[in-house]
Amino acid sequence: MIIVITCSAPGKIHLIGEHAVVYGEPAIIISVGKRAYISAEKSESVKIYAQDINQSGEFSVSEVKEFAEKLQQLWDNCFETKNFAPLYSLLKNEHLGHIKAMIAKTMAELDINTPFSLNISSEIPIGSGLGSSAALSVAVPKALSELFRKVLTLEKINHVAYKIESLAHGTPSGGDNSICCYGGALWFKKGTPNIIEPLHLDFTMKNFVLVFTGIPKLTTGELVSNVRSLNPEYRDSRVKQLGMYTYEMRECLAKQDFTRMKERMNLAQELLAELGVSIDAIDRIHTAVKEINGGAKLSGAGGGGYMVCYHEDLQLLEQTIRDLGYVPEHVELGVEGVRTERK
Ligand code: MEV
Repeated sequence: MIIVITCSAPGKIHLIGEHAVVYGEPAIIISVGKRAYISAEKSESVKIYAQDINQSGEFSVSEVKEFAEKLQQLWDNCFETKNFAPLYSLLKNEHLGHIKAMIAKTMAELDINTPFSLNISSEIPIGSGLGSSAALSVAVPKALSELFRKVLTLEKINHVAYKIESLAHGTPSGGDNSICCYGGALWFKKGTPNIIEPLHLDFTMKNFVLVFTGIPKLTTGELVSNVRSLNPEYRDSRVKQLGMYTYEMRECLAKQDFTRMKERMNLAQELLAELGVSIDAIDRIHTAVKEINGGAKLSGAGGGGYMVCYHEDLQLLEQTIRDLGYVPEHVELGVEGVRTERK
């Protein structure tokens, strides 16, 4: 009998704290009801079918293992020279580079030496700030551990996912993979060890809407590098201030103080713009939503992608967004993390 395992993980939004989280400040990250799915079954070679981009590939186990070693060596060099551009360009130029990297890293971390085939599909738009790569980085080790009957804790899955994310983004904070792994809403602070606390947001989240402002021209890794290359004094003061707003945001959520919450969203957006990760479309939507006393900010790495907006008057918020030519989207927030769909 052929056994097919299907696992999934959700995407995410950053309510606040993106970019600053890379420098050790906290972030509040919430899972969203759009998921990435991986179906895995044993096979005679490593086969990949990425449904959404309609691309497939077939590799031997040793080919994938060699790729894992090559990537690790390159990552080590890039880390030393503090320049991840060579790694990003290898992944871009290699056929199915990112997905192959995820598989290679998972095989190395979980000591898998038997071939399998993976079918990948995702409801999370690629490269849009909604955590498409983080969701896959969690779902791949989950599906392969289930297929090869390796019992993994969520912590271990998250650890492998972080290693995968490091190949795609250099030195990510680990927040994105953590929310895709655990789901719900998280207080995340990078450190040794990371602080990962579930937040129980028991108020209704229905007054949040997402707005897509276009595919970013730069990847998350490139946007993070751009922030890193800013004048350290200029950058660090803004990063610190973003951290302050995140602590205050936690209080606002606990007290259900939506007026201050919206202010924190807007203040964070203005600092993110000063860090150079906003674009005109985001600034325009932010200004218009702020004018009607709402809150609006980019979510994730920026450079385009999704924004998160809030207003008590949902109709007014939606109309304001539509008047600018954008589409307000309702997405369930705080959904379950990585899970097995079918065995
Ligand atoms: C990207 O979704 C979030 C960033 O803070 C990067 C990271 O946390 O690694 C920009």
